[in-house]
Amino acid sequence: MQFQLTEEHLMIQQAARDFAQNECLPGVIERDEHQKFPREQVLKLAELGFMGMMVSPDYGGSGMDTISYVLAMEEISKIDASVSVCMSVNNSLVCWGLEKFGSEEQKQKYLTPLAQGRKNGELFIGAFLLSEPEAGSDATSQRTYAEDKGDHYVLNGTKNWITNGSSASVYLVMAQTDISKGSKGINAFIVEKSWPGVAVGAKENKLGIRGSDTHSISFTDVKVPKENRIGGDGFGFTFAMKTLAGGRIGIAAQALGIAGGAYELSLKYSKERKAFGKEIMHHQAIQFKLADMATRIECARLLCLKAAWEKDQHLDYTLSSSMAKVFASETAMWVTVEAVQVHGGYGYVKEYHVERLMRDAKITQIYEGTSEVQRIVISRSILK
Ligand code: CAA
Repeated sequence: MQFQLTEEHLMIQQAARDFAQNECLPGVIERDEHQKFPREQVLKLAELGFMGMMVSPDYGGSGMDTISYVLAMEEISKIDASVSVCMSVNNSLVCWGLEKFGSEEQKQKYLTPLAQGRKNGELFIGAFLLSEPEAGSDATSQRTYAEDKGDHYVLNGTKNWITNGSSASVYLVMAQTDISKGSKGINAFIVEKSWPGVAVGAKENKLGIRGSDTHSISFTDVKVPKENRIGGDGFGFTFAMKTLAGGRIGIAAQALGIAGGAYELSLKYSKERKAFGKEIMHHQAIQFKLADMATRIECARLLCLKAAWEKDQHLDYTLSSSMAKVFASETAMWVTVEAVQVHGGYGYVKEYHVERLMRDAKITQIYEGTSEVQRIVISRSILK
């Protein structure tokens, strides 16, 4: 067993760290305040090859492994989780599923520009549409319906909480095609945002990751060609579950980064801030907080890297990705609350960044499966 990163991993980690410091840190407070989508930053991520990190170069990707992806997600999330969620959705929920299960035509037409993050010089990214107003955790209860009309389907319904909702050009949409078949009556479709009948709802005004654009998307009699269905008839629920298992590694890495960012700021602050005649790092109350933060972050990192390693080794990573996500997201929440406490009153104002990290941490316990859903996946796995 090796606990060492390769030279290549270290280079990718450094590139992500530099990108976060140079491109994401400037303006991060304003983007959060004004809910401004980080278009410029995402375009630069695309230039770095980080929007299709794990996709084969044959389809415009960078051909990196999942460990590299975790390292990059961690570094970018330390500074701006609104940038990293956009990157995570495109990499894990959109590109991965298309490369693994898409037809050759789908890969040529959609995956190649999505992995490059650009088409004709413009931003070109995707979104994953599973959740609905009344179907979040209970994903089989969705109502969006695609009626089979022979050579095409007619899609109707509404999806909620869609990350990249307005910035994406391509949507992967899960829809019922035969309600009587339960999870086997669901299909996944590639839908272009520009098609007639597709409408983007208002932007959600969120607690955290305020730069990322979250919208509801509705479909009214949208004609979807049959060649845009992913996989065989009825494959949609399995497609969604398999895709989400990888997505959970990305969100676990995002949570790890949010926690790491708050920890690094707390460490720095504790060396500068004086109270009772000495820097607060000399007080045991602060030392114990820092020790607990460091320990929990290390545990979260090991879980993330183990899940990534299992994925790279083509092992089943359903259990490890859910374990990584539930632990890393709870770590992010705990560490960021403690980071605000270490900063005292300064932690409660925007310039010190930790209040934003605390708000950003919360979503990692909710999206791509709540902590409760992860516990369902874990308990089913260990009890089966
Ligand atoms: N791989 C392959 N197949 C899987 C699977 C997996 N990981 N998980 C389930 N399946 C299969 C099951 O084997 C089962 O097949 P059989 O009937 O042949 O046995 C079928 O799918 C149905 O599975 P379940 O009976 O387990 O389904 P369930 O209704 O009990 O749901 C659940 C289980 C784990 C709660 C699931 O619904 C789930 O993960 N829900 C959460 C959904 C989620 O993560 N939503 C997030 C939205 S996306 C998002 O947030 C994107 C964004 O913008 C950031």
